[in-house]
Amino acid sequence: MMARVSQEIIERVRDASDILDVVSKYVDLKKRGQNYFGLCPFHNEKTPSFSVAPAKEIFHCFGCGTGGSTIDFIMEYEKIGFVEAVQRLGEQYGIEVQLTQAKGGKELFSNLYELHEMAMTLYHKNLFSEKGKSVLSYLSDRGLEKEILEQFKIGLAHETWNELLTLAKKKKMSNETLEKTGLFLNTEKGTFDRFRNRIMFPIFNTAGRVIAFGGRALDPEDPAKYLNSPETPLYRKRDIFYGLHSARQPIREHGYAIFVEGYMDFLQLFQAGIQNVIALSGTALTERHALQIRKFTHRVVLAYDGDSAGIDASVRAGYLLLRFGIEPGIVQIPDGMDPDDWVRKSGADELKEAVDKAVPVLSFHIQTKDAKSLPSVQRSEFIKDVVSQISGVSDGIIRDDLLKSLAQEMRVEESDLLKNMNSQKQRNLKEPIPASSRESNEIPLTSKVQKAQVILVKILAGEDLDARQTVREMIHLELFLEPVLKKLAKMIIPIYDEIDYPAIVGQFDSDAERKLVTNILMGGIDESNLTSLVQDCIRTLKAHPIKENIREIRIRIRELEEAGEDPTEAIIEVAKLQEELKSISI
Ligand code: UTP
Ligand code: MN
Repeated sequence: MMARVSQEIIERVRDASDILDVVSKYVDLKKRGQNYFGLCPFHNEKTPSFSVAPAKEIFHCFGCGTGGSTIDFIMEYEKIGFVEAVQRLGEQYGIEVQLTQAKGGKELFSNLYELHEMAMTLYHKNLFSEKGKSVLSYLSDRGLEKEILEQFKIGLAHETWNELLTLAKKKKMSNETLEKTGLFLNTEKGTFDRFRNRIMFPIFNTAGRVIAFGGRALDPEDPAKYLNSPETPLYRKRDIFYGLHSARQPIREHGYAIFVEGYMDFLQLFQAGIQNVIALSGTALTERHALQIRKFTHRVVLAYDGDSAGIDASVRAGYLLLRFGIEPGIVQIPDGMDPDDWVRKSGADELKEAVDKAVPVLSFHIQTKDAKSLPSVQRSEFIKDVVSQISGVSDGIIRDDLLKSLAQEMRVEESDLLKNMNSQKQRNLKEPIPASSRESNEIPLTSKVQKAQVILVKILAGEDLDARQTVREMIHLELFLEPVLKKLAKMIIPIYDEIDYPAIVGQFDSDAERKLVTNILMGGIDESNLTSLVQDCIRTLKAHPIKENIREIRIRIRELEEAGEDPTEAIIEVAKLQEELKSISI
């Protein structure tokens, strides 16, 4: 049997590695629109047609067609196999890649989900049991109603060492599986429940499945106020937001997201009707978070705790968001309160007003550091620090605006700031690698019928959920005649939320297929009237078999005529088909 890597490791490596990060080591990339472009390392070119879509975690060269996931890139560039590529990436990101001879990890994943589901049910039931009464009344004293506790399946872990363990053991799962859930502690004295005497907050992924927990201590003397699940195959802390599953629709509707720090902040705001909110659960905002939220919105309001730690964290998060083309505003919560306290004290309207008046990160930074009245050395340090933050912003327009504001607010020359920025920026541009001669193995899709299929699949695979839904409702799978496109359509039609692009790409083995698929997944349909474009495509596809039919009958008519036979019947058939063509409904 061949050496393999388990599904779990593959997912972990995929999650840990950032395609921009990886590709930038080999290709000098510049941002254009949502994507990054550079000179293709796989063929010789003078103008960049090699493109990386960070939000989708895939790349594609519009010149030579090469494309795929981060793992594919390493395989292609280093000319190595799949397992080796995973190992290389693993090394880079400090993940141990063990080779197995065993079958994949699908079973492990479904077991982990099942155990989390079970734990959530148990904890939730506990909260509403006799023993949970005092905790329930604590929560209600803190202003949380039954409905919100139900909606987010808040629960209670009793002060026992093995309540969950006993239940889990009945499932007859391996010790290794139990260990991997992160729900238990392994000590020399044996295995115990990790969460005891805590209010339990289930953490859901965007598909709405519970993948981890946060637990708040009931005992005020407990050294850990909050205890969270460790990193597990299901739970990767750096791109999970608490509440995103429920908040994502409201975020789309409002056109922005509010970030808070804590679980309680989230619940209080959500209950008060401010539902475009998500919580960072005490972790610092990462680039993965920024990429993740950018799929939903390009505006974020940070409403962190009103203490100095909260202020610093929101400035850091603000600059990070800017680098990713997200417009951040900052709300300062008054007097050392957090959003939860504030809503309970002053009501949701006051918070809403503050959110409407959120301050841009630069102004907030200058204000809170009182930078305008710093002595000159510190003032210069401050400015240099901000300039270096600004230089990381890839969008030139935003960058220029920021420099301009900084110059104005701090009363310095913009040209000096620019000089400073350029001297800070020393990037080593790499020579493009000469292209290896590549066999031409493309699937040309150039006919009108093929193009129509490509457009529909592009929309179905795109990031515009509404457009996806429109197309989904208008088509059926039989319209796709090209086998690759049909296979792709079949995979993406049932997906109602985010698409795992690298996973989709991974389903296509041949080089030729992958070229086509990555091209499609990169998206890029420039059309103001999407509905009429979709209608045209569908009409083309529905008309196609009828037209083919007509052509065949016409040939038959000619044959009949040549043989001196009566073609009337065939002619009537053609007329009927032509009627059918005219009356195609969509
Ligand atoms: P806070 O200490 O501000 O707690 O931590 P809170 O959410 O306001 O909780 P209450 O109001 O005291 O009950 C903010 C968030 O940071 C994470 C938790 O996600 C918490 O909600 N945190 C905090 C931890 O992960 N571990 C900790 O020890 C403390
Ligand atoms: Mn609080």
